[in-house]
Amino acid sequence: MATTAATNTRYLVRSQGSPLTASTNPAPTTADLKPTEVLVRLRAVAVNPADYKMIDSGHRVQSWPLVAGLDGAGEVAAVGEQVSRFRVGDGVLAAFATGERSGSFQDFAVVEERMVAKKPELWSFEEAASVVVCYITALVGLVKGLGLRPPFLPSQDTTSSPIKSVLVLGGSSAVGAAAIQLLRLSLPPEATILATSSPRHHRHLEEYLGASKAVDRSSKSLVQDVQQLTPDGHGVDAIVDAVGAGAGSDGIFDVLRTDGLQRYAQVWTGDEEVSVLSRVDSVLFRSRDLPSIDGHEEVLRALEKLLEEGKYKLPLPVKVVDGRGLAAFESGLGLVRNGVSGEKVVVRL
Ligand SMILES: NC(=O)c1ccc[n+]([C@@H]2O[C@H](COP(=O)([O-])OP(=O)(O)OC[C@H]3O[C@@H](n4cnc5c(N)ncnc54)[C@H](OP(=O)(O)O)[C@@H]3O)[C@@H](O)[C@H]2O)c1
Repeated sequence: MATTAATNTRYLVRSQGSPLTASTNPAPTTADLKPTEVLVRLRAVAVNPADYKMIDSGHRVQSWPLVAGLDGAGEVAAVGEQVSRFRVGDGVLAAFATGERSGSFQDFAVVEERMVAKKPELWSFEEAASVVVCYITALVGLVKGLGLRPPFLPSQDTTSSPIKSVLVLGGSSAVGAAAIQLLRLSLPPEATILATSSPRHHRHLEEYLGASKAVDRSSKSLVQDVQQLTPDGHGVDAIVDAVGAGAGSDGIFDVLRTDGLQRYAQVWTGDEEVSVLSRVDSVLFRSRDLPSIDGHEEVLRALEKLLEEGKYKLPLPVKVVDGRGLAAFESGLGLVRNGVSGEKVVVRL
């Protein structure tokens, strides 16, 4: 079994709100791995809103210094003795976890085998790095938030859902773009999947991700626009709010048909929970709710299969930050802090 004797550069934050600092230490080796763990040599890392929110607010940070980073792709550098799906040198993408050992803002990070998937051969590391957090978050939104049973997870199926129509708020966000695809895979083919975004992303949502129709998120007649696009004009059964848009859209709950599920699944943005009309059933979802869903240990294996079969596509184009290392990480964080539109910011290592 291979070992590494390499140097690991970490891009860490020493205290809340501080800039990143580069720090070097010896990379972990096989001897540092638990039997079910994989050591990944990261080649590309996506910056998520959660990264800058943790750095800036300190929310949910257990201790400083902080090694942020939840998304990333690279090569397997070492495997624990019980790891069976991966070998040293395999190209992989994975769900990392903030912290010294497993945060992806560093050259080498350790992750459980069940949270790793093989990188599609034709994808770059930059593309592969952009996929996992939004996939997991959207999947939790569908299962926990809408009560769906995606057929690509073990012992799930599409037969029992009362949902025939859904509105995704924020279809051009990473979570929204993942949600549209996963809804298309989880609902019967005739289901109506609507999504809001700026008009320039409408083609991507409709022709590439599989939305039935995209709606201008700034339309003054948003509720009517959505209602008119549903088969009988009475609105949708459920909303997936991928960006917390419900907070700024008075009256958005009128898109929910009164004889339907009236479910509002809202991603946790770190801000206050969006309050809803009393008739609406609101469910908050977060990626860290993953362990509460049936089949949670299989979600990366399921993603790998969906990618292999071409059923799940790169949700958004990636914007690769110029350069590498510290300055690139700071630029990437700056871009995401300022707000992105229909793309995923990725830093190379
Ligand atoms: N708690 C968790 O586990 C978890 C996990 C992942 C994400 N999140 C949270 O979920 C949110 C989305 O994350 P992300 O990475 O997917 O975000 P993102 O890709 O950075 O979101 C940017 C997109 O949001 C869209 N948008 C913003 N306001 C909108 C509105 N009022 N209506 C419709 N679209 C709107 C923009 O659309 P246009 O450019 O088309 O206008 C833009 O494309 C963030 O708040 C993030 O912190 C939480």
